[in-house]
Amino acid sequence: MSERGHNRIDEAVRMLRDAQLIVVLTGAGVSAESGLDTFRDSGEGLWSKYDPTRLATPEAFQADPELVTRWYDWRRLRCAEAEPNAGHGALARLQERCEHAGREFTLLTQNVDRLHHAAGSRDVVELHGTLWEWRCVRCGESKEERGPAFEGYPLRCACGGLRRPGVVWFGEALPSDAIERAQQAIGSCDLFLSVGTSAMVYPAAGFARTARQHGAATIEVNRDPTPISALVDVSIQGRSGEVLPGLVDRALPE
Ligand code: OAD
Repeated sequence: MSERGHNRIDEAVRMLRDAQLIVVLTGAGVSAESGLDTFRDSGEGLWSKYDPTRLATPEAFQADPELVTRWYDWRRLRCAEAEPNAGHGALARLQERCEHAGREFTLLTQNVDRLHHAAGSRDVVELHGTLWEWRCVRCGESKEERGPAFEGYPLRCACGGLRRPGVVWFGEALPSDAIERAQQAIGSCDLFLSVGTSAMVYPAAGFARTARQHGAATIEVNRDPTPISALVDVSIQGRSGEVLPGLVDRALPE
């Protein structure tokens, strides 16, 4: 990393050390080092290989529930094989150390893989739901699906209705409890850290700006520049699994 990059990390360490009310927002980049695909990386992102309008909307599910169910089951099985990486681990440590020191910590994620949970993060706000829970579109019953590949597609509930993944699709509202918790935390935080998200999908893409308007210090850790890189106080370009452990362990040593 360049001298400028090191200076930025030093600055971020100071900001994190001084913060009392911390909000972290994560996106698919945090799980990239666990072998999971991101969405918008050119050539390798899911949306450069698959058409979201055929897979990730309520209309797509209505038109072809078998195709959509197969695709999400494939993603579910890929997530089942993935292990949390050093970035997930650092965020779990950050939460533990913040809470130990009487500071407030909220983790907001756009990821549906639950790798933060696997790393030990608690009370994670899942803005885009999870692909482990599947719910019936007729009776609303939701059940966790941790087993092997489904035996048949599409998946059906005992009531005969179709079961869909518990993720948020394009055109759908975010879960109201998640968005309320996010807004409350962002409105009162003194440090906002964005990690591994392209900051393209709203409302999460607007969180850094909102936090800033409320007076919070803002940091971004991302492999590539994003639309919020010029807006935040400190933008660190790097992989989360490489940057976060040092940042967390220097700011809040054990
Ligand atoms: P994107 O794929 O849009 O962005 C991932 C970001 O992570 C990119 O800016 C990469 O540069 C960066 N990145 C890749 N590897 C990284 C690494 N090892 N460390 C740090 N950064 C890395 O994913 P999201 O921003 O999460 O929604 O996408 C937001 C939403 O769009 C997703 O939740 C999903 C998608 O459509 C739904 O499916 C509703």
